[in-house]
Amino acid sequence: MNQANFDEARKAEANYHNELYSDHEILEPGTWMSKPVPIVMELLERILQHKDHVTVLDLGCGAGRNTIPLAVRLKGTNSRVVGIDLLEEAIEKLRENSNKYDVADVIEARKGDAEQVDILEDAYDYIAACGCLEHVSSEEAFIKVLERMKMGTRLGGIHCITMNTDIQEVERETGRALETLIELNLPTEKAFSILEEVYDGWNVLDRKTTLLSIDEEKYEKPSQFRCQSITFAVQKI
Ligand SMILES: C[S@@+](CC[C@H](N)C(=O)[O-])C[C@H]1O[C@@H](n2cnc3c(N)ncnc32)[C@H](O)[C@@H]1O
Repeated sequence: MNQANFDEARKAEANYHNELYSDHEILEPGTWMSKPVPIVMELLERILQHKDHVTVLDLGCGAGRNTIPLAVRLKGTNSRVVGIDLLEEAIEKLRENSNKYDVADVIEARKGDAEQVDILEDAYDYIAACGCLEHVSSEEAFIKVLERMKMGTRLGGIHCITMNTDIQEVERETGRALETLIELNLPTEKAFSILEEVYDGWNVLDRKTTLLSIDEEKYEKPSQFRCQSITFAVQKI
């Protein structure tokens, strides 16, 4: 993707998410933010079978639909959940939600780009990156972020990655295909082959695809976002 298209994709994504976070609440009916991603919570329970306090990173955390339930579950355990998002509005909303759900003492909310943010060595027991990694600037950037996530993970730690692949956008009224404005639109099999190569030697806990379609108000006219959403969960052994 050239720089102009990348900038346009970033702008469209920022507008969409800013509007979503200001008009809708997490963990309330009506949007995809109404519940945490089930596997994100299930994998936390798996880690808690062996540890009584953990450090969690939620990369591309948005307003906190996963970050908040993770922190609620971990409250009182001396654990920490770090939420990082590219958008100031997402981080503000996450802070607001941390107070609303009484988990401000568990959560650290930070603005940052997944491509550049510091991830300290062996800092985390669990890293979730849900709907974030398809927004990095290139395949190389994607691989570099994964490598940094790996380096930042303790032995026995888990990564839960969900990302949209093979994305198509269509105009809702007419079904007309739109030019897809996504920073990294990988074919599904390519995404899996990168993940499998990067995580060679880790234990694969889950690997699946789900056909997804979401109505969006992202462009001038209502559109529909269609993709293969992939889930890839792995454990460092
Ligand atoms: C589809 S939302 C998902 C939010 C959250 N993970 C969830 O599952 O509810 C994607 C989020 O990733 C953030 N994002 C996109 N590109 C990013 C990047 N390069 N670094 C950090 N966050 C990014 C967006 O601002 C947005 O809040």
